[in-house]
Amino acid sequence: MNQEQAKARIESLTQELKEHNYKYYVLAQPSISDYEFDQLLEELQSLEKDYPAFADPDSPTQKVGGDITKEFTTVKHRYRMFSLGNTYNAEELSEFDERVRKGLGSDAFDYVCELKFDGFAISLNYVNGELRQALTRGDGEQGDDVTTNIKTIKNLPTRLKGDYPADFDIRGEVFMHRAAFERMNADREAEGLPGFANPRNSAAGTIKMQESAEVAKRPLDLFLYYVIADGGQYRQHYENLQLAKSWGFPVSEHTRKCKNLQEVLDFIDHWDKARHDLSFEIDGVVIKVNNYDQQEELGFTAKSPRWAIAYKFKAEAAATILESVSYQVGRTGAITPVANLKPVFLAGTTVKRASLYNEDQIAKLDLRIGDTVFVEKGGEIIPKVTGVDLDKRPANSTPLEYANVCPECGTPLVRRAGEALHYCPNDASCDPQVRGKVVHYIGRKAMDIDSMGAETVELLFDAGLIHNYADLYTLTFDQVIRLERMAEKSASNLLLGIRKSAEVPFERVLFALGIRMVGETVAKKLAKKFKSIDALAAASVEELTAVDEIGGKIAEQVVGFFAQEENQRIIQKLKDAGLHFEMAEEEGPVSNALEGKSFLVSGVFAKFSRDELKAAIEANGGRNVSGVSAKLDYLIAGDKMGPEKLKKAESLNIKIISEDDFIQMIGSSESNTTEEVKEAEPKKKEFPSQGSLF
Ligand code: IVH
Repeated sequence: MNQEQAKARIESLTQELKEHNYKYYVLAQPSISDYEFDQLLEELQSLEKDYPAFADPDSPTQKVGGDITKEFTTVKHRYRMFSLGNTYNAEELSEFDERVRKGLGSDAFDYVCELKFDGFAISLNYVNGELRQALTRGDGEQGDDVTTNIKTIKNLPTRLKGDYPADFDIRGEVFMHRAAFERMNADREAEGLPGFANPRNSAAGTIKMQESAEVAKRPLDLFLYYVIADGGQYRQHYENLQLAKSWGFPVSEHTRKCKNLQEVLDFIDHWDKARHDLSFEIDGVVIKVNNYDQQEELGFTAKSPRWAIAYKFKAEAAATILESVSYQVGRTGAITPVANLKPVFLAGTTVKRASLYNEDQIAKLDLRIGDTVFVEKGGEIIPKVTGVDLDKRPANSTPLEYANVCPECGTPLVRRAGEALHYCPNDASCDPQVRGKVVHYIGRKAMDIDSMGAETVELLFDAGLIHNYADLYTLTFDQVIRLERMAEKSASNLLLGIRKSAEVPFERVLFALGIRMVGETVAKKLAKKFKSIDALAAASVEELTAVDEIGGKIAEQVVGFFAQEENQRIIQKLKDAGLHFEMAEEEGPVSNALEGKSFLVSGVFAKFSRDELKAAIEANGGRNVSGVSAKLDYLIAGDKMGPEKLKKAESLNIKIISEDDFIQMIGSSESNTTEEVKEAEPKKKEFPSQGSLF
């Protein structure tokens, strides 16, 4: 590769990765898997290393958009790493307070207010007072093992003091002090290296570095804010933080116990102003219910605890000129308008592009080319346009006309009634759509063909070897080996990976097909209900909408997909390749013994893990709920159950049963239940419940 080629490749990778960051962070609609993202990122990293002069100072390599890189070992978290819900004003916070009050059915609780450190989340495991493993958050279920790098952080205790539990986890944030960050950037610039955009990006980038010796040179710091352990002294968060401090952990002194919402608001007000005096960056305040029993009672939503919330400070804003609007075409044909801006410096980075979301948003803002617009940057990497400075509007400007044809294939765009986005309907031959479908197909949550990435998909298309994902299954070694940069080993791995994908279960195959609006959850529901692709393909809109949570729009998409002859042909080819197009027998429910009944599983059990019990409930037609209410039918009570929960259940006259009572209810022996349940849903450990938290 010569200098010019390197420069061009760096520019195109930088652009591509920024777009993926945008899709991931702003649209929350990633079009490639983490793995593919990391492959592109890696290529860019290595090129930037060889040709530092061409690196964009705002390069995605400094932001670390996707989190699971393949250089580190990926490890499943013992306890899932949840994130927090966000609030932005006193009203939203008061709604949170209301929910907590209602959930607990009481006003007798304390909050703990903490700073929200703007860094990189980390989970540490200590065994016998020594750090055994440090994991990044990753996707919350699994993260990267970055133990060696974490060990270089100066204020991380290597040997704990006092009376610490034998084996426990503690979580916190890795960050960089502002002054240290500036020093580091000055040093980098002196060496001719590009500077980092902000302290958070540089902390994140540093933790994911390959060489821990290099990490050691970077001034990282750490605060811990969450202890998860068995059999400790306290059942209160604040008290445990103080305890963790006594074992030697860095815990922020700016942590307050608050008795009510007003005290919380005072804390927020204080730090909204005082944050600029801190030596590090915070982006808000975190509010947590102090008592573990009460935390347990409130439980979790799919993504975050109901007992905690983040209050985010207002985003920083800047004004600049809107130079043009361009349109991107996604995998599903969705059109995304993007504002091209006169570069402006905002919260540590130079901003050239911003999100515009859709036609309505543009109309609402009455955006015009040449307008002075306000751009804001919250936590996202790509900022958004929030308004127009009408006083500065050029005299002859006219309202912006939204694109009416696809920028890639020229097909007239459609916008269906009730939808915000325009689509290019040409999914059979619009290039980014056709290619995007294959990239989606091989993704981790779809067919998981990890021997190939987006780049290989591009090469295969460019060489005319594939036109859709079904063509993957007729590729030959001779064809693949001729591709650019393809060695014998990678060629056979590639084919092996494709062949192995034939083992993927039906529900994931269905997701992989990339039917619009059929995400992971919908695919699972449809697979469970219709059991085979043939039954699904034959289903009418009415039959589809009869399924729980399947609405008319999804139904129309499904019917429309199967109505296309091309799709039928592709499915036939996939069938010929031996893919699973039927639900495996054991994936259905074991029985309907618990139909219509709700259960709450709490405590520690002798024969099952809590997750196995929950899976057994579902497999037998029952429903799991997360809190005690009058509507609850059964509480399955294990050891060390929280006394408050038990009291509440008793006062509501809820049937409290043991693990053995439950086994009797489903009328099956312990062994065959667990076996079948395990088949249906792999065991996954969630948070420890009452008594196993401190
Ligand atoms: S508690 C289950 N406390 O903010 C509760 N998080 O969106 C887990 N963060 O992933 C988080 N300061 O990376 C907590 N004092 C604090 C925090 C904090 C920063 C980060 C953390 C988390 C994200 C939540």
